[in-house]
Amino acid sequence: MIVTGQPEEFRELLGRARAEGAVVGLHPTMGALHPGHLANIRQAAHDCDLAAVTIFVNPLQFGPGEDFEKYPRTLDQDLAAADEAGAGVVLCPPPEAMFSQVPLTTVAVRGLSGRWEGASRPGHFDGVATIVTKLFALAGECRAYFGEKDFQQLAVVRRLVADLSLPVEVVACPTVREPDGLALSSRNRYLGQDERRAAPGIYWALLAGKRSIEEDGLRDGHEVVRTMVRACEREPLVDLEYAAVVRPDDLEPLDEVVLPARLLIAGRVGRARLIDNVAVGGEGT
Ligand code: PAJ
Repeated sequence: MIVTGQPEEFRELLGRARAEGAVVGLHPTMGALHPGHLANIRQAAHDCDLAAVTIFVNPLQFGPGEDFEKYPRTLDQDLAAADEAGAGVVLCPPPEAMFSQVPLTTVAVRGLSGRWEGASRPGHFDGVATIVTKLFALAGECRAYFGEKDFQQLAVVRRLVADLSLPVEVVACPTVREPDGLALSSRNRYLGQDERRAAPGIYWALLAGKRSIEEDGLRDGHEVVRTMVRACEREPLVDLEYAAVVRPDDLEPLDEVVLPARLLIAGRVGRARLIDNVAVGGEGT
């Protein structure tokens, strides 16, 4: 595995591999790699000739007062785990190598970026879209692996690739969960013992919503949301931010549930802010 902190070297390595006929698989991350990331790297390594991973805690996507400084940074373990999972190249640039000057350019996917996570975290998706566009520019033609765990991010990335005609095929990777259903997240390490026990409540709320549609035949979107809210209220340590039933492509809320749909949820458990989602009535991503 080749490790570089230099974006230009990363560009050259991938360009050279492509010139020799390799299909490149890209998995952008912010590090603190967990088995969810590693499954995605394994998938990229399986599908492609060269799996390229980026590890960069992107300051552009953190709001004031968010956890940018405290975001876990575990580079040595990350590199060992990425190697083990089959990565061929890793870019882990220091901030000044990514941005030698304060960027004046922003990529904004309007509409899609404003609701749900975007409403709770203003500017977040502009930061994501800008860094992902930059990583795509460095990587060149590739397949890019993104987790369904961050479903709105996946939708934003798909849309920016389509709108800007980027030479990237976006591949959605299934959410990897703990045995009790909690979606793996780098932020789960912020959870105390009782909070960790309560955290799967957000997944159970999604399952309650999913059952209400798939088994009880509920089609009133507001009723489905109420079902999720009530399920969440059973877990007092979960402070719900939003629950929604949406169209999978543009994340518009559904008054009347049309399948396939997606259920989204976000909440705080202690100082961790957790998000999750499930498909209803088929995958529909
Ligand atoms: P990060 O949170 O490190 O996630 C990197 C990738 O791993 C994302 O595509 C995310 O959806 C995926 N992922 C996270 N948890 C997962 C799980 N439990 N199962 C499967 N995949 C999972 O998302 C980001 O970083 C950043 O916003 C980034 C795209 C790198 C831009 O900075």
